[in-house]
Amino acid sequence: MAIEITGTGKAVPPNRVTNDDLAAKMDTSDEWIRSHTGIAARHIADESTAASDLGLEAAKNALSMAAAAWKISPEEAILSLDLIIVTTATPDHLGCPSTACIIQDKLGARQAAAMDIVAGCTGFIYGLETAAGLLDINPNRKRALVIGAEILTKVTDWTDRGSCVLFGDGAGAFVLEKTQAPMAGVGKRGIFRSILAADGSGAADLTIERGGTRNPYKTGEIVDVPPHLDMNGQAVYQFAVKAITDTIDRLLKLEGLGVEDLAYIVPHQANARIVQAAAKRLRIPEEKFFLNIEEYANTSSASIPIACDELNRSGRLKKGDIIMTVGFGAGLTYGGNLIVW
Ligand code: ACO
Repeated sequence: MAIEITGTGKAVPPNRVTNDDLAAKMDTSDEWIRSHTGIAARHIADESTAASDLGLEAAKNALSMAAAAWKISPEEAILSLDLIIVTTATPDHLGCPSTACIIQDKLGARQAAAMDIVAGCTGFIYGLETAAGLLDINPNRKRALVIGAEILTKVTDWTDRGSCVLFGDGAGAFVLEKTQAPMAGVGKRGIFRSILAADGSGAADLTIERGGTRNPYKTGEIVDVPPHLDMNGQAVYQFAVKAITDTIDRLLKLEGLGVEDLAYIVPHQANARIVQAAAKRLRIPEEKFFLNIEEYANTSSASIPIACDELNRSGRLKKGDIIMTVGFGAGLTYGGNLIVW
């Protein structure tokens, strides 16, 4: 038995904003943003778009691919879903309803359980392992949809040039399927090993303080707790390099694999310099890491499925290839998945 990926999809808003567009509005430059982050552009959602809208579009794209593989209609594929997990730090609503339930309803996935996972930018890595575990544990569950959907630009502090240039909006999705096919390649198939980790002592380094039960919104009150994402950039940077380095090293050792066994490492797309620093420490060629941060900036838990969908649809991922996802984010959290494609 294995948990395999049968479909991938992505969605980004059409509004593409370049570094020069930002430089026309604030004290920054294309040169600074590119040299410090590797970002050239980001896609920004309009006022009326919420995380579920992008998540729904990405899900439909992934389900069309899965339906074609199963030789059924997309509607039949939707009705065959047993589980929907949405990973997001920017849900449609704080607390309830979950963004997953909104997408379940709009899809018409009547048989599917639905829930959100909050693990910052590591969310999709947590989501894949959770979905795989829930499919594995119950013989009646066979198919799952995991979606990373984020609208970071609505919680960004647009007066803070140190953080607002980093983020973009988007969603990515995987359709997972429990299969009984024989083992191939390294003797593994699908999602075969994950590391999920957290270090809550760094929680204050990346927060959205306002709006929860610690600092609830109150009508008419003047408060000094920011309503937006607040980040200690240098602390996150140092944590990120160590988290990525440790996760890659541990995952390879756990499975007795070498870097040469991997087709790609797909990192969370937060900053190209973080990836370059980790590659240097591990003596891994930079080309092994797939980066598309230049076009989309940091889309939090959507960045890994968006990157995988681009690899998949462009034909760069072949059946039997091994990839490693690796990420870090608010919490602080980190982790990775090993997947035979
Ligand atoms: N344009 C021009 N200048 C800028 C900008 C900007 N957009 N932002 C900062 N600067 C200036 C600063 O004011 C500072 O100027 P000073 O020396 O005159 O004071 C100078 O550039 C250097 O600032 P630093 O903050 O030291 O820049 P640094 O090299 O550390 O890069 C960055 C900042 C890019 C934020 C980096 O720390 C980083 O990438 N950290 C990790 C962030 C991250 O990954 N966050 C997300 C993780 S979780 C998630 O994905 C939600």
